[in-house]
Amino acid sequence: MTAPAPSDTLMEDIVGLCKRRGFIFQSSEIYGGYNGFYDYGPLGVELRNNIKQAWWRDFVQCRDDIEGLDSTIIMHPKIWKASGHVDSFSDPMVDCKESKLRYRADQLFFAPVSVDGETIGYVSVVECIDQQEVAEKAATEMKRKMAKQGELDTIELKEYTEAKPEQYELIPSPATGKSGSLTEPREFKLMFETKVGPLANDAATAYLRPETAQGIFANYKNIVDTGRVKIPFGIAQIGKAFRNEITPRNFIFRSREFEQMEIEYFISPSADWNTLHREWIDTCIDWLVSIGLPREGISEDIHPEDKLAFYSQATTDLMFQFPHGEQELWGIACRSDYDLKQHQEHSGKSMTIFDETAKEKYVPHVIEPSLGVDRTLLAVLSAAYTEDEVPNDKGKVEKRILLKFSPKIAPVKAAIFPLLKNKPELVEVAKRLHKKLQRRWNVFYDASGAIGRRYRRQDEIGTPFGITIDFDTIEKDGTVTLRDRDTCEQRRVTEDELIEFLEEQING
Ligand code: GAP
Repeated sequence: MTAPAPSDTLMEDIVGLCKRRGFIFQSSEIYGGYNGFYDYGPLGVELRNNIKQAWWRDFVQCRDDIEGLDSTIIMHPKIWKASGHVDSFSDPMVDCKESKLRYRADQLFFAPVSVDGETIGYVSVVECIDQQEVAEKAATEMKRKMAKQGELDTIELKEYTEAKPEQYELIPSPATGKSGSLTEPREFKLMFETKVGPLANDAATAYLRPETAQGIFANYKNIVDTGRVKIPFGIAQIGKAFRNEITPRNFIFRSREFEQMEIEYFISPSADWNTLHREWIDTCIDWLVSIGLPREGISEDIHPEDKLAFYSQATTDLMFQFPHGEQELWGIACRSDYDLKQHQEHSGKSMTIFDETAKEKYVPHVIEPSLGVDRTLLAVLSAAYTEDEVPNDKGKVEKRILLKFSPKIAPVKAAIFPLLKNKPELVEVAKRLHKKLQRRWNVFYDASGAIGRRYRRQDEIGTPFGITIDFDTIEKDGTVTLRDRDTCEQRRVTEDELIEFLEEQING
C-alpha cells in the first residue's frame, strides 16, 4: 500500500464514502449537525472495534509487562488540579469581531507584504497544506491592487501567537480580508465542565477527562498493590476523552469527543530512557504498519528541547500523511516522574514502588505512547482509499472505488454469494457457509443483483474476500471460488482450505 498524496478531494471522497456506506455520520445530523462530534455507523463501529481490539491484543494481551485498566470519565476534580490541566490546559484563541469566527492563534498565520523593503500591508491565512501559496497569491493581489512597482519581498509566515501587539490591528481577518477586527490571542480552556451532585455550586464542578492518562496515574497505586507488576511495567487504557477544541476540523482528525489508546510505561529513574524511548517509537511504527498503514507515510517529529514541558525529557510524534497534510498521529513522550510526584503531593499518598532487582524504592519515571482511535481510523481510511479500473461482468472496463483494508481490521471479513438467488440449491449451501463463518468472523451474505455488482459493493466497504457458491460447488467437488478484493483474482478452494486461509489472513 502506498501513502496517499495530500489532497482536499481525497478528504471529500472519504467523507462522502463514509456517509454513503455507513461508516461515519455527523452527530445530530437531523438537527443540522453538531460541530466537532461524529457518530459511527454499522461499518464504522466494526472498524473502530477492530482497531481497538488489535491494539489491546498486541499491547496488553500479548505482553507480560502491560496490564489493562478502565477508569471513569469523570474523576475527582483534584486529579486535574494536580495534573496541571485546571490551570494550564488551554489553547491560544483569537476572535474576529466582525465575522464572529474564532481561530486557534497557533493555526493562524500572517506575514507583512513588502515591496522593495517597504511594508504595504499584511496577509493572513488559516493553516492548510498550501498556506504559503495562498499567502503569496494574496500578496501579489495586494501589490496589483495598490499599483505598486518593484519586487515583492519573500513572504515569511509566522504564527499569530508571535505577532507584536501593534500588529494585531494591521493583520487582516481571514474571514473578511479586512484588518482591525482580530483580537489579541487569549487562553481558552479546553476542559469540558459539568456539575456532579444535586447542588449546582462551584464545589460541584467536575470535568470530562481530556485524556485517559490521568486515570492511569490515579490507579497506579492500586495496580502496584495487586502485586501483579514489577518494574518496568505498563498500564494501558482505551477510552473516551473530551476537549472543547476551538476549531475542530478535518473530519474526525480533531474532534471534541474522541477516543484514546494510552499506555503509561513505568521505568526506573536510572533506566536508559533514551534507548527505551527509541524502542517504543519503533514498536509503535511496527504496529501501525501491522494494521495496514504504509511505512513511507509515517515519519517522526522530534520536539525541540526548548519546546518541551519543563518535566519532559523527550517527545517524538509519529506523523502520518493525512489527506490534509502531514499531521500528528501518535505522541510518544518521556514524562519523567512529574505526574506521579504531583499526585503524591496533592493526595498525600506515596507513589513509590520497591524495585526487587535494584533493591531500592523510588517514584518511577514514565514513557507515554498516546494514540487517538479516531485519528488511526482516519489514517487507515486514507491509506485504504483507492480508485482503479476493472472489467465488469460484460468485460467493459469500469472505474471502481475500493478500500484496501488489512484483513485484520476490515469491518467485514468476507462476503458469501450464491451465484444465482433463484436457485435454492445454491442459496442453501451459501446460507449454510455464511452461518458457519459468522460464528467466527463478521461476514456478509448477499444474493441480490449481478455478481459483479455485488463484488463492487463489497470492494467499496473494504471486504477483502468474496466467496461464491456456483454450480461446480453443488454438482462437482464442493469447492467455492475465493476472490481477492485487490487483484480481483479468483481461485477454487475447498471449505477446509477456505477456513484455514481466512484464519491465517485475519488472525494470523
Ligand atoms: N496523554 C497525552 C495526550 O493526551 P495529546 O498529544 O494531547 O497527548 C494524544 O493526545 C493523541 O490523542 C494524539 O496524538 C491524537 O492521536 C489524539 N487526539 C488528541 N486530541 C484529539 C482531538 N481533538 N481529536 C481527535 N484525536 C485527538
